Amino acid sequence: MRHLPTRTSLRRVAGALTAGLLCTAGLAAPAVAAPPAAAPTAPALDDGLALTPPMGFNNWNSTHCRADFDESMVKAIADIFVTKGLKAAGYQYVNLDDCWALPSRDADGRLVPDPARFPNGIRAVADYVHDRGLKLGIYTSAGSKTCNSAGFPGALGHEYSDARQFADWGVDYLKYDNCNNQGVDAKARYTTMRDALKATGRPIVYSICEWGENKPWEWAADVGHLWRTTGDISDSWGSMLSLLKQNLPLAAHAGPGHWNDPDMLEVGNGGMTDTEYRSHFSLWSVMAAPLLIGTDLRKASDATYDILGNREVIAVDQDPLGRQGTVVSSEGGRWVVAKEMADGSRAVALFNESGRARRIATTAGAVGLPAARAYTQRDLWQHRSSNTAGTVSATVPAHGTVLVRVAADRAWAKYPPAVELGLDADPLVEAGTPATLTSTLTDLGRTPAERVRVRLTGPEGWTVKAASPTTAASLPTGRSLRTRWSLTAPPGTPTGSYDLTLAASHRSPAGVRVDSVLPLTANVVLSPPPGTSGFGDLPWLSATNGWGPVERDTSNGEQAAGDGRPLTLGGVVYAEGLGVHAESTVEFYTGAACETVTADVGVDDEKGAAGSVAFEVWADDTKATATGVLTGAMPAQPVTADVTGARVVRLVVTDGGDGIDSDHADWANARLSC
Ligand code: GLA
Repeated sequence: MRHLPTRTSLRRVAGALTAGLLCTAGLAAPAVAAPPAAAPTAPALDDGLALTPPMGFNNWNSTHCRADFDESMVKAIADIFVTKGLKAAGYQYVNLDDCWALPSRDADGRLVPDPARFPNGIRAVADYVHDRGLKLGIYTSAGSKTCNSAGFPGALGHEYSDARQFADWGVDYLKYDNCNNQGVDAKARYTTMRDALKATGRPIVYSICEWGENKPWEWAADVGHLWRTTGDISDSWGSMLSLLKQNLPLAAHAGPGHWNDPDMLEVGNGGMTDTEYRSHFSLWSVMAAPLLIGTDLRKASDATYDILGNREVIAVDQDPLGRQGTVVSSEGGRWVVAKEMADGSRAVALFNESGRARRIATTAGAVGLPAARAYTQRDLWQHRSSNTAGTVSATVPAHGTVLVRVAADRAWAKYPPAVELGLDADPLVEAGTPATLTSTLTDLGRTPAERVRVRLTGPEGWTVKAASPTTAASLPTGRSLRTRWSLTAPPGTPTGSYDLTLAASHRSPAGVRVDSVLPLTANVVLSPPPGTSGFGDLPWLSATNGWGPVERDTSNGEQAAGDGRPLTLGGVVYAEGLGVHAESTVEFYTGAACETVTADVGVDDEKGAAGSVAFEVWADDTKATATGVLTGAMPAQPVTADVTGARVVRLVVTDGGDGIDSDHADWANARLSC
């Protein structure tokens, strides 16, 4: 069961509980099953709309109902679409979300645009947008009121007249939400609006927004063009990750005219790093998700424009075959997701969920390409082509995604060989003590990599010495230049993360020079104290969390550091431990010196029966133990994990598969014995 902690969510639950008296008669259930994964997909609504996932803008993620959501914003976005090349890149819809209307209908039952926000009405905005060759979207709810607590009118019982009004205004897209639905059957509510939109005679893309509660992927292919599969996104790594994991398994249900919608983009809103936003954009594209920009483009940085405007990534999303990518493998936070493209190529995302650089590898065969002597591989963020003999692999930075498009074509010989750069082990160094690292440069190509050189550089003041050759005259397919390095951080260097760079160059047989750079992170660490320590007292290597920061010795308070309450499970208060919120990973250096992790785990009592999570303890790349899904209704569960020999221990909490609502997870009394 899903539980929803936010204000919005509580409102939804209340709405759903309100007894409804509205008429639902006469609505036949649609009889369309989801297409099997490999079947060719046909436009389900047969109206030629949304044959590729809708692209555009929606104000919600950047403004919510603030006053800066108004006519001037909407016009400015339309102008920016044109002037900044986003229209040319495929962005088309400029969509208004909640709060555009007045709380009351007029005497004739018509919706009234808020005169403070839209003094010239919606028609004027639509005309402005249309004049620029773009389209306008609007929002309402399949309920008595929309989701905002100010209570704007919903369309339940007004479907035909509201649809007529939208069409008269020149609306091209409707997002139809689920709040205050009076308990009326979802299929009935959404089908009525489909019929009402159709009756207007105007082509209107229809976006079903019932948050995946009624599994619309099973029944909505001939109702709407897209359907939300999840609750709302927020501008955090944990939220993005959770929605990704909920949307990936639904791949078989997506196709031209009927898309899974894991919610709008947060790229540019500031709650994630640019690396994380590139992952968000790459993964949404590989999932053939709608690309609705959710940041205020009037204030967007160049980096944000570079991400949103990457046409090679957009081409993955917009591929006319309309396949949603599927998971080829996922192990220890290393994800391979591949999308079949109309030209027979595959877009392949190598996504690193973990907090440290990781090697992620697959093959042309594993992603579905036919056997061939070699393949062309295009890196869609670096905009470079190379040839590969069949291995598709890279060391991917923490939270990063390497996105490539691999094709079995004859052009491969034109390109230099792909090389892979990496390190044999995570660079964890104790200050003042030389650490040995081994770098590798491997030729993945069919052709030799010639005049190969590697160079490792560390921060100012660090000593980096090569202890074996840093050059090779020629590396044939599959061979590596392995270089041993001695790395020393000056004595007294504080614990923490420091930048390392592994740089390399090689030449193709034709003499074309290729430079490669792998940014890495070295951690200065302290060996763990002998005996038993509380995890709440140990420094961590990295920490990620669904809401707010990880807390020491208190529960997760969702916002600022230190806003938690006493760790409490099953009525027992614990003085020590960690309070996290799914999705969460906290990494500790154990230096092969420790044996056991113990803890009492569960959802904190502050969430009542709500919340559902699963706990995992990892010893390097091995899952040492895992609980099943634990809910707030269950007592604390003791866990013990053998971590003998591990350099790094990771404490992981997943969302239990149902989103990150109310997932306050306690590692109570968590201890490490060394
Ligand atoms: C719901 C939807 C959001 C947004 C808000 C507006 O939460 O899921 O996408 O439209 O309503 O109130």
